[in-house]
Parts: sequence; structure tokens; C-alpha cells
Amino acid sequence: MDKQPIGVFDSGYGGLTILKEFVKELPSYDFLYLGDNARSPYGEKDFDTVYEYTLQAVKWFFDQGCHLVILACNTASAKALRTIQQKDLPYIDTTKRVLGVIRPTSEVIGIYSENGHVGVMGTMGTVISNSYLIEIAKFFPDLKVTQQACPEWVSLVENHLFNTKEADYWVEKYIKELLQKDENIDTVLLACTHYPLLLEKIQQFMPKQVRIISQGKIIAKSLNEYLTNHPEIDDQCSKNQELSFYTTGDLTDFNNHASVFFGSPLEAKGLFL
Ligand code: DGL
Repeated sequence: MDKQPIGVFDSGYGGLTILKEFVKELPSYDFLYLGDNARSPYGEKDFDTVYEYTLQAVKWFFDQGCHLVILACNTASAKALRTIQQKDLPYIDTTKRVLGVIRPTSEVIGIYSENGHVGVMGTMGTVISNSYLIEIAKFFPDLKVTQQACPEWVSLVENHLFNTKEADYWVEKYIKELLQKDENIDTVLLACTHYPLLLEKIQQFMPKQVRIISQGKIIAKSLNEYLTNHPEIDDQCSKNQELSFYTTGDLTDFNNHASVFFGSPLEAKGLFL
């Protein structure tokens, strides 16, 4: 049996916040991470571009032997996942699996809210796709979901501007805009894997009674359940506690900053897609 690592893809650093939770939840598994830092942010790009970039990444993971790839990026999940699953996989390899982050999050988000008013903060691409509205309605039809695009937040994170005046300005602005649309929101989902890095700032400007939900633990638990329910896929995953990292961006920059996202130092290899 050809056992291989689980592929984890993000437009840049954000997916490392998800990978960190995968490693905690599934410590024996091997993971192969790819951040497309050279071409991020994806949030402002059109559907075709995000789909094309994501498909390139998925094919690269398959070339490395991965049987299972997680799109640890909401924008890629919103704009590319369905087409890849329905149109591309049947031609590429019907035994391979590609999963995203929107459905597992939508399955549980309603549980966190006491009054049924939830805010979803994401990239422009994720918000415009309405993927969260559509998916959440399947599981929690009575939930009132209000979306807020936060186009500047990914740039703040990718440029490491966590504690700056710009961060204060943009974080306060988008939170205010969201709460103006529905002042009863008691739960806010950070529907972009980059946003947990702004958590301190977000907490600073979010009213104290609002619960802020990051996706990492939710996605990790869901992956664990998926592997338990699909032993044929689980059997194809290698388990030597090995992690490898690739970036399409500047290697020194990635290695210097990735530890903030991942929580411990790491050394990536460069890749040109
Ligand atoms: N981290 C990605 C997400 O979860 C988006 C970042 C980007 O715009 O590239 O949506």
C-alpha cells in the first residue's frame, strides 16, 4: 500500500493555523503543506483565477502522491472545491479526495449561538460566493447569518502588521460595519484562516458578549471524524509524524514568519507552480 501524507493547501500562511490543529488532533499523521504566498491574496481574485490556481496546487499534491488534500482556505473552498470535486476529480483520479473547510464549519456553527444571530467575516470572494449562507441554511435553517467582507485583513496578516494603527483602523471598521447590519449578533465566525492571527485585535474591538469562533479546532475534529468514517482513505495516509512545508513565495520570508502562524519554527522548501 502506497501510504502518503495528507496535503494541506492555503493561499499563503493562513492554512498553518489549521495545520497546527491537525497536528494536535492527529499527531501520528504526516502532512504536506503548500502556501501559494507568491500569488496571495486570493480573496480579491475572480472565480476562474482562484479555481485555476487551486487546481494547479491540487495536481501538485497528487504528483507528490497525496491521496487526500484539504483546502485549508475558505476562498479556495468557496470558489474552486465544488468544480474540482465534480468536474476534475472524475478525470484525474476517482480514488483521490479533496475536502474544504466551509461545510464542516457550517455543520456546527449554529451550536455556538444562543440567540440565533451569527456573523460571518471572510474575504470578499468567500462573502460574494454566499457559500456560508447556502451551507449553514442546510444545517441551521432558522439561523440569521450576516456576512461581512474584510478585504484588508489578509494583507495586514501577510505583511505582519498585527499591532499597528492600520490594524486598529481596519479591524474596528469591519466589526462596526458587521454589527450595524445586525446588532443582535452573539457569535462571529472568523471564516478566513488568516484571521485568527488578528484575534487579539479583533477581541479588542468586538463587544465582550460576542463569542468569536476560529475554525482550526472545528476542521481538525471534522478531519478526524472523516478518517474514522472512511477507513479506506485512512489506510492510505502515512503516519510517521512527519511534516513538510512548501511555499511559492520568498523562502527566507516564509521561514521567518511561518512560526507565528504555526506556533513553532519550521523550514520550508521553495516551489514554482
Ligand atoms: N486564508 C484564505 C481564506 O481562508 C484567504 C486569504 C487570501 O485572501 O488569500 O479565505
